[in-house]
Amino acid sequence: MSDITRREFINFMGISAAAAGTLPWLIQCASKAVRPLGPPLPFVPLKSSLEDALLLPEGFSYEVILRWRQQLNTKGELFGFNNDFIAYLPFKPSDPNDGLMWVNHEYHDPYYVSDWRPGTPRTDEQFRLERKAVGGSIVHMRKYEGRWQMVDNSKYNRRLDAYTPIPLISQRPILGHRTAVGTFANCAGGVTPWGTVLTCEENYDNFVGEAIYKNGVRTWVDGDDYLSWAKGVKLPPEHYGWVVEVNLKTGHAKKLCALGRFAHECATCTVAPDGRVVVYSGDDAENEHLYKFISRKAGSLEEGSLYVADLKAGRWVHLSWRDDARLKKVFSDHTELLIRAREAAKIVGATPLDRPEDIEIDPVSGHIFVSLTSNKKRKNYFGSLLKIMEKNNNPLSLEFDSATFAAGGAETGFACPDNLVFDKKGNLWMTTDISGSALKPILTNPLAITVCSIFPCGAKAPALPCKWLPRPMVRN
Ligand code: FEO
Ligand code: CA
Repeated sequence: MSDITRREFINFMGISAAAAGTLPWLIQCASKAVRPLGPPLPFVPLKSSLEDALLLPEGFSYEVILRWRQQLNTKGELFGFNNDFIAYLPFKPSDPNDGLMWVNHEYHDPYYVSDWRPGTPRTDEQFRLERKAVGGSIVHMRKYEGRWQMVDNSKYNRRLDAYTPIPLISQRPILGHRTAVGTFANCAGGVTPWGTVLTCEENYDNFVGEAIYKNGVRTWVDGDDYLSWAKGVKLPPEHYGWVVEVNLKTGHAKKLCALGRFAHECATCTVAPDGRVVVYSGDDAENEHLYKFISRKAGSLEEGSLYVADLKAGRWVHLSWRDDARLKKVFSDHTELLIRAREAAKIVGATPLDRPEDIEIDPVSGHIFVSLTSNKKRKNYFGSLLKIMEKNNNPLSLEFDSATFAAGGAETGFACPDNLVFDKKGNLWMTTDISGSALKPILTNPLAITVCSIFPCGAKAPALPCKWLPRPMVRN
C-alpha cells in the first residue's frame, strides 16, 4: 500500500497504523456487495474473480510475515498449520509496535502435514506431526523500519498444541480428570477486557469423535476419517469443545467450562455496567444455537451463568441445573449439563439457527451482529446477518429484540457471511466463506472462496422480521 493510500485508508477505518497492518485480508471487496451509502471508499473495490490468488485493490500489497513450520524458539517449536483467528496485544498502549500475537491453527490437513493417505494406518510419527500442527502460536512481534517481524527466539514465543496439558476449570473432574490433553479445532476467539485471549474449540469431533448419551449409556462415535486420531490416540471428546483462555505473557491456558461445550465459533466479550463480563458465542452447526454467558464477578470467566437465545420469545433462557426441573431430570449435575449444552439448549426451547459464526458488537449502537452462514438442511444456501438488540442496550438484559439485518442472495450480492468487524467509525466489514465443494462445477476447487463486503456506518439495511426467508436455489 502506498503511504498516501495507507493514510487515507487508516483515516477511513479510524484505526491505528499498527492495527491497519493486520487488516489487508479485509480489503478483497466484491464491488457488487458494497452499498452506495455512507462515505466513499478510499480505494477501488475489486470485481468478482475466478483467479486462484490473493487479489488486492490497486495501491495495496502484502507480505508473508510468518510461515507454517517457521521456528519460533530455541526449543525448536514450529509455527502451526491453517491459521484462523488472530489477536495482537501491544505490551504498552504507548507503543503499538511491540507486542504479542496469538494465532489459531484450526486443523491439520494430513495431505500436507503428515503425508498420511486415506486407507492407510497412521504411523506414530504421523499422529505426532498432526498433533503438533494444531492449537495456537504465541509470537512476539515488533515493527522494524515499517515492517512487522517476529522477534526471533523471544522468551514469549511458544506453541500450544494437541499435547499441551490444560486445566479444566470445572466444578468437578470431567471423566476423572482435572486437566485435558491439548487444544485443537481452534476457530475464532476473542479478547478479554484484562488482555487475555479466548480461543474457541470448534469442530473437535472431527479429531476425536463425539460422546453420545442415550438412556444413561455413553457411546463414543469416531470422527471424520481424514482428520481423526481415534485409531491411535484416545482423547475423550468431553475434554474439547470449550472456550480456552490464554495468557500470552505466561503461556498459561485454562478451559472455561462454565461457558458450555459445543462447536464454539467465537467468544465476543463486553463489560456490563456493573463490571461483570458478558460473552456471546455461537455454535457453528446447522440448527444449533446462540449463547450468552454472564460472569459471576468482574475480571474472571471461571464462574457465571450460561443462557441460550429463544428468538421467538425474545428471551435469554438460563441453563441452570439447580433451578430448572426439566434440566435436573436429564442431567446428573450442572457439569453434565455444560458438557451436553446442546441437549440442554433444546430442552429449554432454544431457537435453531443457520450456523452462527462470528459475533461483533456495534460500537455506535451497542447492537450485537451475528453471522448466520447457511443451513442446507433448511435450503438456506446464502445465510444472513442477525441483529440482536438487548433491552435497554444492557448486555445483562434477559430480553431482547432481533431482526435480520441483511439476507444473503443475488440482490444483496453476498453469501455465507463469516468473520465480522466494526471499524471505529461504525462501518461493518464482513468476509464471506463458501466451501469450494458447495459451488457450481466451474468454481469447484479445493479452496474456499473468500471475499469482503462493507456496510457503511448508518446504512439502512432492511430490518426484516427474523424468520426463514425464501431464497433462490443453487443449481447443483
Ligand atoms: Fe471454523 Fe465455523 O468456522
Ligand atoms: Ca469461521
